[in-house]
Amino acid sequence: MKDEKNTCGGKGWVYSETVKEHFFNPQNILRDEKEYEADGIGMVGSPACGDMMVVWIKVEPEKKQISECKWRTFGCASAIASSSMMSVMATEHGGMTLSRAKKMMPEAIIERLGGLPERKYHCSVLGHLALREAIEDYEKNHEHGG
Ligand code: FES
Repeated sequence: MKDEKNTCGGKGWVYSETVKEHFFNPQNILRDEKEYEADGIGMVGSPACGDMMVVWIKVEPEKKQISECKWRTFGCASAIASSSMMSVMATEHGGMTLSRAKKMMPEAIIERLGGLPERKYHCSVLGHLALREAIEDYEKNHEHGG
């Protein structure tokens, strides 16, 4: 058949160059957590698709900034690209403070990615939700002396 359109809805599935960049070359992915000593760990599953995401963070205790943010997902391309971008945003410029990182919104990640197909929005929430859980895990374990 000539000119057959993508059966998933044509341009609703177009990915930005930045999404492709982060999908093909994901930043801060953690392949083997056995050798990684995290200060906090967060894990979330997506009710929409059943995929899951884990985030590991290291925290600079004086300034309460995220010095490292690693992740791994069994989600799709959009989940990989948005987690990669989330980890870059969490650690750039010396690291986000914990309080700021807890307020990170998926819209900010999507904006930095140059957009995501609308129906992939639920994939972009996995990274920041797992990050939030990792921060809460850190805070729970480091309540003393705070
Ligand atoms: S479809 Fe499950 S994370 Fe994207």
